[in-house]
Amino acid sequence: MEQRIDPWSSTQYADYQRLREQFGIDEFTAEGLPSPPTIFTNGVLFGHRGFGSISRAMKEGRPFCVLTGLAPSGRMHFGHKMVIDEVLYYQKLGADIFIAVADIEARSVRGLSLEACRRLAIDEYLLNYIAMGLKQEKCQVYFQSKRNSVKDLALLLSTKTNLSEMKAIYGFEDSTNMGHILTPLVQVGDILHVQLEEYGGPKPTIVPVGVDQDPHIRLTRKLAASHRLLNAQVTNDGKVGVFVKGDEDVEALLDEAEEAIRGLGLKDFKKIPSYKALYINDASHDMVPMIDETLVPVELARGGYAFYPPSSSYHRFITGLDGGKMSSSNPDNCIFLTDTPEEAAKKLKRAKTGGRQTVEEQREQGGVPSNCSIYEMLLYHLASDKEIEEVHSSCTAGQRLCGQCKSMAVEKMNILLTELAEKREAAKEVVDDYVVIP
Ligand code: TRP
Ligand code: SF4
Repeated sequence: MEQRIDPWSSTQYADYQRLREQFGIDEFTAEGLPSPPTIFTNGVLFGHRGFGSISRAMKEGRPFCVLTGLAPSGRMHFGHKMVIDEVLYYQKLGADIFIAVADIEARSVRGLSLEACRRLAIDEYLLNYIAMGLKQEKCQVYFQSKRNSVKDLALLLSTKTNLSEMKAIYGFEDSTNMGHILTPLVQVGDILHVQLEEYGGPKPTIVPVGVDQDPHIRLTRKLAASHRLLNAQVTNDGKVGVFVKGDEDVEALLDEAEEAIRGLGLKDFKKIPSYKALYINDASHDMVPMIDETLVPVELARGGYAFYPPSSSYHRFITGLDGGKMSSSNPDNCIFLTDTPEEAAKKLKRAKTGGRQTVEEQREQGGVPSNCSIYEMLLYHLASDKEIEEVHSSCTAGQRLCGQCKSMAVEKMNILLTELAEKREAAKEVVDDYVVIP
């Protein structure tokens, strides 16, 4: 009788799967993670790039950090909340947290003033983050416009991309303003600056975002790799090798790499300076990440960046209450974290569901949770795995009417919003301590 819940089997599932296939995004699984929150296991987190280096760091108790950002626009709504749920989980596991306020981006793309960004970021977003549970320890919120290392990296790393690549990725036109064209590079600066020496040096970094940010992640991973002095990789014919990227100090770099890799207990090397290559015959493919990490000190000593490729995790977008995209420019289709329980209840009661025209039809055919904004609100934010399973199976079996789900959502939302409002008051006392300038 028991039905398996597969939130991916809806039409949206097909879309997200296609996204993964089309862009080479890997499927996310929470397997092996310590007590993952519901969005990690119920399909809301659906994809990633390079998450393996984060789960390895977690398992081995090595440091890793989280970098995410917000481009302040309107008020914070429930479509913005998933990223922070992720951040809170990583913070509990001991990660360093960096939150970029993308004020340069909001100014260039949306025409907001830096001061308006600052106010929105603090009064609207940060207060809610703290109310949700963001701790100040090992956490910093900064502004793009104030942090020189971010802007420096944007300019310095930009030499490894060009206008035609930027146009291909982003669809920029000749008339696009230069500020807008620069924003992806500033975001590259955000993501990679945490690996500079002044922020603790190279380390695994996870960037939790909505999948709309994937182009930035691809660009960042490319620029990080193209600024490495040395790379460990598996060659086309299956060998493990270390390769020098540039033309400077090739022999010395290969020698230093060999010495470092000997420290791993590997012995069988073949160096071919004319190929800028050091082959490691006794290394297996799964040792490549470890070898790559061993090269970090070698590269730093020679003035390289030695960036780890940043990892990303992608969440699905929550559907708005009218069935469209949840957006703060359409206040009736989204619930804001600062809504009163009464305002939220009113919106939830009007929300579009996957219910049938009549009670009889619903009893006969069951509802369609995969096309139901109330179901999504429960799945993303309000219900436990067990509850959602019960809702799903009783809905599709025709044993449930939408009114029941709406009452459930209203009740749970009431508790959540009341608690957030209380905690926001307390957060006002400490909010300034989270902001680090520059
Ligand atoms: N571009 C992001 C947005 O529109 C904001 C952002 C800026 C960001 N820098 C970032 C997100 C770094 C993740 C990582 O929401
Ligand atoms: Fe959605 Fe619940 Fe109605 Fe099913 S019964 S369509 S899950 S509101």
